[in-house]
Amino acid sequence: MVAAPAPLTARRLGPLRGRIRVPGDKSISHRALILGALAVGETRIAGLLEGEDVLNTAGAVRALGAQAERHGAGEWSIRGVGVGGFAEPAGNLDFGNSGTGCRLMLGAVAGCPITATFDGDASLRKRPMRRVLDPLERIGAHTLASNDGRLPLTLAGARDPIPIVFEPQVASAQLKSAVLLAALAAPGETVVIEAEATRDHTEKMLSHFGAKLRVETIGAHGRRITLAGQPELTPRPIQVPADPSSAAFPLVAALIVPGSDVILEGVMLNPLRTGILTTLAEMGATIERLASRDEGGEEVADLRVRAGALRGVEVPAARAPSMIDEYPVLAVAAAFAEGTTVMRGLKELRVKESDRLAGTAELLRGNGVAAEINGDDLIVQGRGTAAGGGLVATHMDHRIAMAALVMGMASEKPVAVDDAAFIATSFPGFTGLMRSLGGDLS
Ligand code: S3P
Repeated sequence: MVAAPAPLTARRLGPLRGRIRVPGDKSISHRALILGALAVGETRIAGLLEGEDVLNTAGAVRALGAQAERHGAGEWSIRGVGVGGFAEPAGNLDFGNSGTGCRLMLGAVAGCPITATFDGDASLRKRPMRRVLDPLERIGAHTLASNDGRLPLTLAGARDPIPIVFEPQVASAQLKSAVLLAALAAPGETVVIEAEATRDHTEKMLSHFGAKLRVETIGAHGRRITLAGQPELTPRPIQVPADPSSAAFPLVAALIVPGSDVILEGVMLNPLRTGILTTLAEMGATIERLASRDEGGEEVADLRVRAGALRGVEVPAARAPSMIDEYPVLAVAAAFAEGTTVMRGLKELRVKESDRLAGTAELLRGNGVAAEINGDDLIVQGRGTAAGGGLVATHMDHRIAMAALVMGMASEKPVAVDDAAFIATSFPGFTGLMRSLGGDLS
């Protein structure tokens, strides 16, 4: 459970200096627990993100009959039950704030002949699940009860799952992954055709566990993924690299607090996650990739980030899938740039942990930055500085909270957030790490 509201204020102080490692990648952590639970035998995980979202997924796989044990910081073992082997849970599965945990587990449960009720907090209860339920129903699952396609909902998994060809109407890795996880239990080949490629951690981890999966590129941005059903998943060790979406917060802070020089260790640089680095480079940011290496099948590097002048840019809609979680903090960088930044094609931001398009615009305006929403685009007028002085409503959204605090570290007056408690869903230790770099958060 998320703790009572915890207001927090960030103030401008001296430059940020030092080396930090942000916690493990959230997307990979959820998938490691879920695939571990669907494999036969024991999967060892190192570097698991122990944020509330991921801990809720651990609770769900336990409730479904897998064993998930913690051995030390980030060190876990999962004893799986095999594809299609989940047992009916005794109570509701509570995913808290996590859309990823909920949607991926809807897929995993949809391939098992069991019934389960999915629930979450007030934020998750508002988020659309129909997009996931539609293809899962084609595979053979049934939605027994839902609140108009929202949580709480009860899903009866397929008794005889059938393979499908699915072309998602939204670029969503959660949606793609839910279908692939359900399709594990179906005989024959399931095909997912993405017009815009989204993060491919599910595909990579399925291959790592021995599933037969073919990925072809189509057109400039698309992918066609073909999965052979009913594999036996074989446990393989998983090393979770540092989360680039979490790294984005200290990274932008280091860019906009004058004189800063920070190293972020072991950040995952999967090309479907690095849109923020491309954009910041176009804005003139100095970010060096040091000691590039492979960790658990992903490219990682230490990022050296130094403060410097930024300029406004246009961010194309096609880049959105590779930086979907980074727009709130990019908008903060845009405020400290000189000139106009236009971020195009942000429709999906409206259905995140909060309406992030509205929340980001509010966060900027409340701190003296001109920002406007035009259709699905966000336009920010950068003036190289921000007044600050605002109290930002975080709407149960960890990324709005962290983006606001990053802004406060560089703005003329402090920036406060009404509730920093949700930061623990994805980035436990955020406040301590920012303080260790020299940030003033209290
Ligand atoms: C995620 C996919 C994205 C992202 C979320 C994590 C994942 O959501 O916003 O934080 O792990 O698959 P969508 O797939 O809905 O865009």
